[in-house]
Amino acid sequence: MPKYYITTPIYYPSAKLHIGHTYCTVATDAMARYKRMQGYDVMFLTGTDEHGQKIEERAAIAGVPPKAFVDDIVEGVGGVYDLWKLMNISYDRYIRTTDDYHVESIQKIFRALYDKGVIYKSVYAGKYCTPCESFWTESQLTDGNCPDCGRPVEGAEEEAYFFRLSDYTERILTLYEDHPEFLLPVSRKNEMVNNFLKPGLSDLCVSRTSFTWGVPVDFDPGHVVYVWIDALSNYITALGYRNEKYADFDRYWPADVHFVGKEIVRFHAIIWPAMLMALDLPLPKQVFGHGWLLFDGGKMSKSKGNVIDPYILANRYGVDALRYFLLREFPFGSDGNFSNEALITRINTDLANDLGNLVSRTVAMAEKYFDGILPEMQETGPEDDELLAMASVLRTVYAEKMEAFAFQDALVEVFKVISRANKYIDETTPWVLAKDEAKRPRLARVLYNLLETIRLTTVLLLPFTPESCEKAWVQIGADAAICSWESAATFGLLPSAVTVQKGEGLFPRIDLKKELEALDSE
Ligand code: ME8
Repeated sequence: MPKYYITTPIYYPSAKLHIGHTYCTVATDAMARYKRMQGYDVMFLTGTDEHGQKIEERAAIAGVPPKAFVDDIVEGVGGVYDLWKLMNISYDRYIRTTDDYHVESIQKIFRALYDKGVIYKSVYAGKYCTPCESFWTESQLTDGNCPDCGRPVEGAEEEAYFFRLSDYTERILTLYEDHPEFLLPVSRKNEMVNNFLKPGLSDLCVSRTSFTWGVPVDFDPGHVVYVWIDALSNYITALGYRNEKYADFDRYWPADVHFVGKEIVRFHAIIWPAMLMALDLPLPKQVFGHGWLLFDGGKMSKSKGNVIDPYILANRYGVDALRYFLLREFPFGSDGNFSNEALITRINTDLANDLGNLVSRTVAMAEKYFDGILPEMQETGPEDDELLAMASVLRTVYAEKMEAFAFQDALVEVFKVISRANKYIDETTPWVLAKDEAKRPRLARVLYNLLETIRLTTVLLLPFTPESCEKAWVQIGADAAICSWESAATFGLLPSAVTVQKGEGLFPRIDLKKELEALDSE
């Protein structure tokens, strides 16, 4: 069985997660479910990045030890575990960088790099952005502030270990040239080349002595490993690299893709491959830098305070609706403006009107006209051709988009077929056919075609809205065996005497005006 290894960034548990974090995890989940459906042996890794100055400071403000502070955000009620459960995230492994096996691996990795001479000891004098946990030189600052987040930086001067990143400029450029697919979208690559590689990379400070909340450098007490070296390594330590906890490094490494937000592409597409080169390990096949969800035009962030709570949204509108919205509304590689109005409108138009109505109308008609069991039906006719042709090629078109991580486009293709099916109802007018006894075989054919269209489209929607698809299958009388990836390539697999079963509406329509007023008054 071929393998597929996909990762999300590991989140900083410095505060509760917001909808922006949920975005990347839902995308990774959709991709993992898609690959599983195709028969891949998937390893979907997520986790939390629990060390660093920012966490130490937040814990001090909260008056608790850092480990207790992160434990609460990860394991506590409404924490990360709960959120991924709520959002139906099907991760296979969860790594916490405070786990003993990871700490052990990091110490071994750091020592191995030191022994190879790739890490050396010197003195660091420069600037540090604590919220981003990033070192900067004076010339990299924007108006004296952090070029990534715009916040003030602090001066830092301390004895430190350095990674010889400057030795890797050419090798990283060659990597991009030889493997144009390594870093996507292309705009991210241009940014890396122009901003970092062309000017030439500087050596990277990889240890700190001014705080203690990190992995200790075991051969030099007082130093802790720079949090990004610690964090990036999670992708291999979670497979058992230099630890005994897991033993599937050979099976899954190299990763097929790392999904990351655009502001951390620099770490994943420059520092991470350089580290792997230094360790003589294969490189990940791909890094995809997705855009940000913006809120009122600015990046949502825990520290900016304008957090959108995924719990509130999921509980109000349903998990599947939220998952669908995130991947349908915004192209994955670009920024997108989040608004409650856009969310509700999208739920109403696509999910309630198009998909929900198609299912409820079709099932209701099969019940009304045939007591839920389709009788002998007529052969297909020319009026059916367009719908059948669209449904039959859908899987191929959809797969092309999914392989390119173009989730929005994949969903657009599915909904084209759903809309076509709704139009087909209007064209074939089943309520007129029902009045004429002689047309009952034709009526059965029309309903069968609709049920088949629902089956094919909901199989392809499974990675996005898993629970609702399964509910739809119960209603249309499709058992799991014909709701697989293989069966989504063939029209006509439902048994001819299919029995439908009316259920609750999949996606209730929301009164936009009332809902916005209700949200305003919260
Ligand atoms: O960066 N829209 O952790 P993090 C889209 N620990 N994505 C967003 C977002 C938004 N509004 N806000 C955050 C870290 N993200 C590191 C990762 S990986 C070895 C270490 C995304 O909790 C952000 O782009 O600050 C990043 O990819 C992820 O959430 C985690 O952010």
